[in-house]
Amino acid sequence: MDFAKPKHFYYLLHPRPVVVILSVCEGGRYNAMPASWITPVSEEPPTIAVAIDRESYTFTCIEYSKEATFNIPSAQHVDVVYKLGSVSGRSVDKIKMFGLSLAKANRVGAPIWQDAIGWLEGRVTSFVDVGEVRLYVFEVLDYYAKADAISEWGWQLQKANPIHHGAGRWFYLVGRHIAASK
Ligand SMILES: Cc1cc2nc3c(=O)[nH]c(=O)nc-3n(C[C@H](O)[C@H](O)[C@H](O)COP(=O)(O)O)c2cc1C
Repeated sequence: MDFAKPKHFYYLLHPRPVVVILSVCEGGRYNAMPASWITPVSEEPPTIAVAIDRESYTFTCIEYSKEATFNIPSAQHVDVVYKLGSVSGRSVDKIKMFGLSLAKANRVGAPIWQDAIGWLEGRVTSFVDVGEVRLYVFEVLDYYAKADAISEWGWQLQKANPIHHGAGRWFYLVGRHIAASK
């Protein structure tokens, strides 16, 4: 068999679903950054984990407030999602710069992005530092999605298709639907 190696090991684990993390920073400011190194961890208690670069402003904000919202964007927002990841909230107010419309979350102080199609609200319960990142474990305190975008079994992909990050500017939508045999 012939083998080939992509540029990075993690490309074998991409494309990955993208969220926009909103956090409260010192002085009551809000910040937004896209993240795709995020995963469900346990059902009871409902838990997710996300790897955040310790040089990002989001890291500073999560350290400050210990809470965040995870906003699931759809394809129509791919440009703003990419741009939110190309500039740091340390130097600009990204909420103003990109005109993000925010609303109050149910259980945390961080706001939600109204243009998203799904939302999770979480509070940090633990973390581990690995290399350049802090892997945060968040308890999910609430979760919900746009009513016409979701069913009991998940996304209604013909109506709302969450974006997945490949590499650089390249994103994917979920395509074919296949069923395993019984
Ligand atoms: C699609 C996408 C996914 C990203 N995923 C992550 C991630 O999982 N963790 C991370 O630390 N940075 C990730 N980044 C990079 C941050 O979004 C980027 O460094 C951002 O500018 C940080 O903003 P901040 O300094 O305002 O927090 C991603 C960027 C993009 C475009």
